[in-house]
Amino acid sequence: MESRKPVTTAKLRSMKQKGTPIAMITAYDYPTAQLAEQAGADVILVGDSLGNVVLGYDSTLPVTIDDMIYHSRAVARGVRNTFVVADMPFLTYHGSLDSTLAQVGRLMREGGCKAVKLEGGEEIADTVKAVVAAGVPVLGHIGFTPQAVHQIGGYKIQGKSTEQADRMLKDAKALEAAGAFAIVLEMVTEELAALITKELSIPTIGIGAGRGCDGQVLVFHDVVQYTAEPHPKKFVKTYVDVGSQIRTAISQYVSEVKSRAFPDESHTFALDDEVVQYLYGSKKGDE
Ligand code: KIV
Repeated sequence: MESRKPVTTAKLRSMKQKGTPIAMITAYDYPTAQLAEQAGADVILVGDSLGNVVLGYDSTLPVTIDDMIYHSRAVARGVRNTFVVADMPFLTYHGSLDSTLAQVGRLMREGGCKAVKLEGGEEIADTVKAVVAAGVPVLGHIGFTPQAVHQIGGYKIQGKSTEQADRMLKDAKALEAAGAFAIVLEMVTEELAALITKELSIPTIGIGAGRGCDGQVLVFHDVVQYTAEPHPKKFVKTYVDVGSQIRTAISQYVSEVKSRAFPDESHTFALDDEVVQYLYGSKKGDE
């Protein structure tokens, strides 16, 4: 496969200027990262959706900085030129600036990512500014912010009222002014997401935010339906049902083990005849 130049924040901004869509997908491990790069993704997000789709939690809240570092490191090992962003987990960037920078530093140094994502708008703009000033690219995330699911009161579309729309526009501009290199818009009405995209010079990456964003992001497990319990979502497109394929493959394996159809001779390693004779005292097959 032809190798491309490493994706950078400058490249992402120029993609916006040229009207070239940005393709982002989540990944949490080495083989998925390799496959996403081979498939041409521009950005991989090591999302804290890790909590839901890999670790079996019912939200992103229990995910720790150590979880993020572990998975980010595996992803970083799998890519050469894809831009890797990792999520700062719940409440790891709301304490003192020193503690925020220490956590960001761990995720960058130990996790090997190139940027971090922080959920929130104007209220975290000073934090974003400080992290950017420390030399760390920041991806913003507004609209539905999963770490605030209990405050929001569930998985709800954002930006439906004039007040919410005004608020979100202000949040987007505050993040841009604070130095964010791009902003994720999650579960935002299409018209508002398109307006935010038009008003900003930095790219917007939508998930459930319609067709007017500069790029799109989806969760890997949704794209390939890598789950035993599918929960269809309106904004997700599933391209292959690997969950069913995996279940079928494992059940065939289990049944072949039980019936002794696996392994067959082609999967075995044979000894030389002399050693067989030594061990068995007679030629193999004579018994
Ligand atoms: O954690 C995640 O995967 C995310 C995406 C849904 C944008 O934040």
